[in-house]
Amino acid sequence: MPKALPRGVLVAFEGIDGSGKSTQATLLTDWALSHGLDAVRTREPTNGPWGMKVRESKVSGRLSPDEELQCFLEDRREHVATLIAPALARGAIVIIDRYYYSTAAYQGARGHDPIALIAKNREFAPKPDVVFLMDFDPRLGVDRINSRGGGQDTFESLPALTRSREIFLSLDEPHIVKLDAKKAPDELHASVLFHLLHGPLKDSAKPLRLDEAPEPETLRPR
Ligand code: TYD
Repeated sequence: MPKALPRGVLVAFEGIDGSGKSTQATLLTDWALSHGLDAVRTREPTNGPWGMKVRESKVSGRLSPDEELQCFLEDRREHVATLIAPALARGAIVIIDRYYYSTAAYQGARGHDPIALIAKNREFAPKPDVVFLMDFDPRLGVDRINSRGGGQDTFESLPALTRSREIFLSLDEPHIVKLDAKKAPDELHASVLFHLLHGPLKDSAKPLRLDEAPEPETLRPR
């Protein structure tokens, strides 16, 4: 039986493409599981019908700004209802790779007002306990994307990523923690744990022995 937290904790990793969000989401999930927590790792866009529609548009040609926004909102609505809200209700730590700050940054870069987009999402999507913003020079992001093979897609042009990064950096909320994504993955992971153990997981750290860390396993090279 995994250990439940006194209340669910929602952690979002955000940043432009190629900034290392997925690596950090994996490291944190491994850490949580190795401490016996009920950890749910997820991502947006999802593999549901709305998420697949935007994914396909990356190859076949981008949707109009309004249509694209609608897809991300519907995808998230479904994601919250079927996975995020139930997991939080049972005391899980939910670790999400992209959330509504990506809507602000990417659909904001296409002309929508980022602050209004966040407000619209908050009507139905729970506010994260902490958002780790992996800040990164988009020129390096584009290099990483190219080195993965498969080429850039229409979301990943340098001017678009530059604008998305500016919007991410302009978001000023106390639960957004900006991290320098150029740093080594283990150093970033240590910062992530520090913020969680001194923030949303503070009261659970002692009773659930979260500070007794089997770190070497978690930090194995990948
Ligand atoms: P995908 O390749 O599925 O994921 P990732 O790049 O994170 O591995 O593509 C997701 C793209 O969708 C990414 O370029 C960011 C974009 N996006 C938005 O434009 N708005 C959103 O609300 C979300 C969640 C993602």
